Amino acid sequence: MSESSRLSGEVFYPDPVAAAAAHVPDHEALRAAAAADPLGFWAARAAELEWYKPWDKVLDDSNAPFFKWFTGASTNIVHNCIDRHLSGPYRNKLALIWVGENGTDHQTFSYFSLNREVTKMANVLKAMGVGKGDRVTIYLPRIPEVVFAMLACAKLGAIHSVIFAGFSADALQDRIGDSESKLVITADGSWVNGSVFKLKDIVDEALRFSPTVENVIVVRRTGHEVAMDPLRDHWYHDLTALPIAKGPCATEPMDAEDTLFILYTSGSTGKPKAILHTHGGYMVGTYTTLKYTFDIRDEDRWWCTADPGWITGHSYLVYGPLLTGATTFMFEGGPTYPYPNRWWQLIEYYGINIFYTAPTAIRSLMRFGEAWPNRHDLSSLRLLGSVGEPINPEAWQWFHRVIGKGQCPIMDTWWQTETGMFQICPTPSLPLKPGSGGKPFFGQEAEILDEAGQPVADGEEGFLVLKNPWPAMLRTLYRDDERYVKTYWSKYPGKYLAGDSARRDKDGYFWIIGRTDDVIKVSGHRLGTAEVESALVSHPAVAEAAAIGLPHEVKGNAIHAFVVLRLGHEPSPALAEELRKHVSIHLSPIAKPDWIDFTEKLPKTRSGKIMRRVLKARALGQDEGDTTTLDE
Ligand code: WTA
Repeated sequence: MSESSRLSGEVFYPDPVAAAAAHVPDHEALRAAAAADPLGFWAARAAELEWYKPWDKVLDDSNAPFFKWFTGASTNIVHNCIDRHLSGPYRNKLALIWVGENGTDHQTFSYFSLNREVTKMANVLKAMGVGKGDRVTIYLPRIPEVVFAMLACAKLGAIHSVIFAGFSADALQDRIGDSESKLVITADGSWVNGSVFKLKDIVDEALRFSPTVENVIVVRRTGHEVAMDPLRDHWYHDLTALPIAKGPCATEPMDAEDTLFILYTSGSTGKPKAILHTHGGYMVGTYTTLKYTFDIRDEDRWWCTADPGWITGHSYLVYGPLLTGATTFMFEGGPTYPYPNRWWQLIEYYGINIFYTAPTAIRSLMRFGEAWPNRHDLSSLRLLGSVGEPINPEAWQWFHRVIGKGQCPIMDTWWQTETGMFQICPTPSLPLKPGSGGKPFFGQEAEILDEAGQPVADGEEGFLVLKNPWPAMLRTLYRDDERYVKTYWSKYPGKYLAGDSARRDKDGYFWIIGRTDDVIKVSGHRLGTAEVESALVSHPAVAEAAAIGLPHEVKGNAIHAFVVLRLGHEPSPALAEELRKHVSIHLSPIAKPDWIDFTEKLPKTRSGKIMRRVLKARALGQDEGDTTTLDE
């Protein structure tokens, strides 16, 4: 019997003493209670937070799928992340611990000093004319200012759009243009494995065609020479020295349904989608899921390794932890620089209690062997977490045994940019099955459907749908209601289509298999085949391109691109390398294809659609399936 099949049949039962002390001591009992009254469940959670004005209605579903939560209520997520903590026992508690890539830069912020920094940045933004509803693009490395910037926007009621600082100028320009941002917050550069990555140069290039941007704020991080446009660009440290930065700044009262942020994510077709989240529901959803699933306690130090450029960073590095009054830890660097013990060293040094990361990172660290983690005392850890892609049982087992010393339950959380918060996940009182995220969160129900919309039998694969609305759900796609309805609510009316295939076992546990659309998860990052293809086609030698994801031991999936060359260009290893680089520069290094295959022709349907499914089957040497529509 193989290692994986033995493990996938295994169940890890919670330690009864630890489970009994958790926020959710009896998972099934709470699930049953919440199922009987989901809105009552959510209203009670919302009541744990502060509102300037209470809601009239918990859920307004009169215009589904445009759901509204906590209608009539007024709040601001920053009031609950910061303001309310200032008058209570959390005032002097550490809100944020930050460590730089070099290991020597280090800053800590109590809730009091986080408020000081956020207020300063909000004052600066306000002086630059940023107000309620304005869009601000944030393109920053993992430094404290990214947290200040997000919260400062929210405090003023402005809408932030954070772009992962690994995206290229083209990608940045598209997103700035689509959101019509009036201000960009960036840094001179970021540190990547000891070298400077020149962020400001990328912003300069992106802004050549971004007419809406009036001002750029530049945080000094790397200290290298950068060009500054005297009319447009401002050093952040110069601005904060001005009188405009001083004094208090009121937190803007927001309607619960007012927009908090938009976040671009890859979809199956065309340009990235701007997922829209709101102040009220997102606040209640991220607060509740983090508190219950990761059982946050006052004394905990929480580390989510995600970048704020992705939803995991938004919900569980910034907003969720501050809402629960936790101490959130942020590290600028990656896990293997300068040595593969970097994360383990930080866990030991800072006494991290709960550690939330991605399967791809675990797989890559496994390759360096157990000696690296074993050099460190990891006994502060109480709980572990996984997100972004299915975790294979081998990686689960290694994480559990080597990092958690067999003592720490692993919370495998399934969710999406769209869902804003966990949807399928355990809590410390649910028995765990390695590779499964367990059951839908309290108040939620999920189903596995066949093509015709009928539930499939237990154990069979099908389309994953969510049945109930939830507070942190996306409200729409920014300025594209039609695409919102079409993408998520039209295949099975009344049910949210996740875009994943999955199965449910006889115990009601869900097992995610992978995407059913043209989204590829590479090292947990979400990329669209269409984006990779358009980056390839922008190269003068390329006539047509198709990208697919193929299984990869560490990255989960790796990109394999098929390219048809224009007349006069010959295939060569040098050209393949050039094209890989081209994607890296024009989209992102994370989107760089692992393989380029030159081909004469791409398999297409008679209507001209590329059949990526056929390419994938051929690459894997599998049956091509139904090819009756193939035009060959
Ligand atoms: C995948 C990331 C299996 C899934 C929070 C989903 C997962 C997509 C898991 C969303 C998990 C996320 N197990 N698959 N625990 N978590 N996924 O928007 O395919 O970057 O649809 O959000 O990641 O990716 P996104």
